[in-house]
This record gives sequence, C-alpha cells and structure tokens, in this order.
Amino acid sequence: MARSYGTTRRSFLTRLAGLGVVLAAPRAVLGNTLPLQEVLPTRPIPGTEETLPIVGFGSSKPVLEIPTEGTEPLFGVIRMLLEYGGRVVDTSPRTPEIDAEFGEVLTAPEFIGRLFVATKINTDGEASGIEQMRQNQQLVGSRTVDLLEVESMRNLDVHWPNVLRWKDSGEARYIGVTTSSIPQHEVFESFMRTQPLDFVQVNYSVMEPNAEDRLLPLAQDLGLAVLINRPFMNGNYFGRVSGRELPEWAAEFDCTSWAQFSLKYILAHPAVTCALTETTNPEHMAENIGAAFGRLPDEATKRRMRDLVQDF
Ligand SMILES: NC(=O)c1ccc[n+]([C@@H]2O[C@H](COP(=O)([O-])OP(=O)(O)OC[C@H]3O[C@@H](n4cnc5c(N)ncnc54)[C@H](OP(=O)(O)O)[C@@H]3O)[C@@H](O)[C@H]2O)c1
Repeated sequence: MARSYGTTRRSFLTRLAGLGVVLAAPRAVLGNTLPLQEVLPTRPIPGTEETLPIVGFGSSKPVLEIPTEGTEPLFGVIRMLLEYGGRVVDTSPRTPEIDAEFGEVLTAPEFIGRLFVATKINTDGEASGIEQMRQNQQLVGSRTVDLLEVESMRNLDVHWPNVLRWKDSGEARYIGVTTSSIPQHEVFESFMRTQPLDFVQVNYSVMEPNAEDRLLPLAQDLGLAVLINRPFMNGNYFGRVSGRELPEWAAEFDCTSWAQFSLKYILAHPAVTCALTETTNPEHMAENIGAAFGRLPDEATKRRMRDLVQDF
C-alpha cells in the first residue's frame, strides 16, 4: 500500500525525457488519473505562513569543487531545482575565496529572490563565529539570511547567544542546529527540548533511520521545521545498492530508482519539511526531485524497505 499525495509527474517525466533522464513511470501515474502538477509539493514551516518545497540542494561537494570544476555545475543544479519550483539551498562556510565565487552564483540575477539559503556557523571561538556570520551575509548578498544553523552543535554554547541576538536583530529569519551523526542524537535531543529553535537539520534515510525513533516525533511535537541531510549517506548508499535490482513493489509507491527509494522513505515521514540532496549533476537533481511526485510509502511499506536494505 502507498499513500497518495495527489500529485502526478507526467509532465515532469516528459520534460526529463527531453533531458535524457530515463525514469520508467508506473502506468497509474502516467494514465492521467491525477491532476497535473509540475512543481514540487511544499510543506509549511510550522507556525508561519511560509512553505518550502520538499526537495532541496545540499551544496557541499560542488562548492568544494569550485577551484577545479568552476561554478557551472552549481548553476546547472540550481537551475534544475528552480525549474521544478525548488528553492532550498543548504550551505556551510568555506574559504573566503570559495565563498566569494559561490556568492556570485547565489546572487546571480537569474536566482536573486528565488532561493531559501540555509547558512551555518561551523567554527570554534566567538570572534570566528561572528566572522562566519558576516561571510554568510556576504554570500547571500543581504543583511538578512533565511536560516542560520550551528553545524553539528560545534562550540554551541559560545555561538548560541549570538545566534539568538541575530534573530532578534533581523539578521537571521530562522535559527537552528544540525547534526549528521547518530551518537550525537541524544545531546541534540536535549538541546531541542530546551532552546527556542525554528529548524533542526538531522541525518535520516532508509539505511540510517534512527532519527524516526525520537528526534522526528519530537520535532513534530515542538512544531519545528526539519531539514534532512545524508539521504544517501554521502554517497555510500549507492555503493551498497550497487548491482542490486530495485524490488518490483517499489512501483507501488511510484519509485523508479534507488535514489528515489531512499528519498521517498524520507519524504513519507510527516515531520520532514525538506530533504537536502547533494549533487554535482543536474540530471541527478532531476531524478531526486522526481521522488517528490506520485505516491509515498506507508508505514508497513517503510518497514519492508528497511528490512530489505539492512543487510546490503
Ligand atoms: N552536520 C551537517 O550540518 C551536515 C552534515 C552532512 C551533510 N549536510 C548537508 O546535507 C547535504 C547532503 O549531503 P550528504 O553528505 O549527506 O550527501 P548525500 O546527499 O547523502 O549524498 C551525496 C552523494 O550522492 C550522489 N548522488 C546524489 N544524487 C544521486 C543520484 N540521483 N544518483 C546517483 N548518485 C547521486 C552524489 O554524487 P553526484 O555528485 O555524482 O550526484 C554525492 O556523491 C550536504 O550537501 C550538506 O548541505 C549537513
């Protein structure tokens, strides 16, 4: 069984075919039985009028590759995201030289005003944290960043009072913390329970489902927006599924690739606001966006999905 979110990807698939991206679509979806929808579904940022598209872009790899590959891969992936109504770009401070080039991408006329950029602090010491905040503001070309997160809770006690101040002063619209490591989940949970957060960012996927035990239900209870990192365990997932057939029953939730298998698992969780997928390849971005269309697995199917991959 699968849950239907009332979306179809017929037109989406037609466009992908034009790009040479092959996604075998289930007949039920192609059969025009559902209303046409070309843009990514959105979910609300709890407690606000604002919504975010449910698939976003984690920019680490293409940004770090700017010195060797240039900025064209970033332009390609972000254009693809925008083509389907995507908006969320996750970043992390890099060297000033790299961020200067990335900033030129994010503030290019074709992107200006169309992105929701999640920025971070990931350093030790207060002075260095303030410097990173200034670098974030330069990166997005604005005094106000959409979202400021302390990455992996690094030096959190030192940075958090400033983060709260930047929210008060309007320099950060939303604030939060991130983790990408299961051993950190316990201390992360304590922080969630005690601090006025807008967003959390956590690692969650079909092979790394731990966040669904406590963090995701807690985020729902507290009314926090949730970004997901490591949907493919930084690429390790593809090594583990390599050479294996996608099960036939994946068609029951309109899944046509292993990438979508993990993403649909993530997106089926109601606490999730947006899954960040990192890629240097616009066609991979398109394939990942495809996970947001059609049906999503229900709880019984999610159990089956976890069981299938646990020994991979
Ligand atoms: N503590 C933190 O705050 C934290 C930690 C980790 C990550 N993050 C955020 O989360 C984002 C996601 O990062 P991640 O490290 O977790 O990476 P990920 O999205 O789990 O995996 C990225 C890898 O998957 C490959 N890939 C993506 N789509 C694909 C597709 N459709 N088919 C085949 N390969 C595909 C990419 O290669 P190609 O380039 O070839 O597509 C890349 O090697 C990061 O960019 C970052 O923004 C945050």
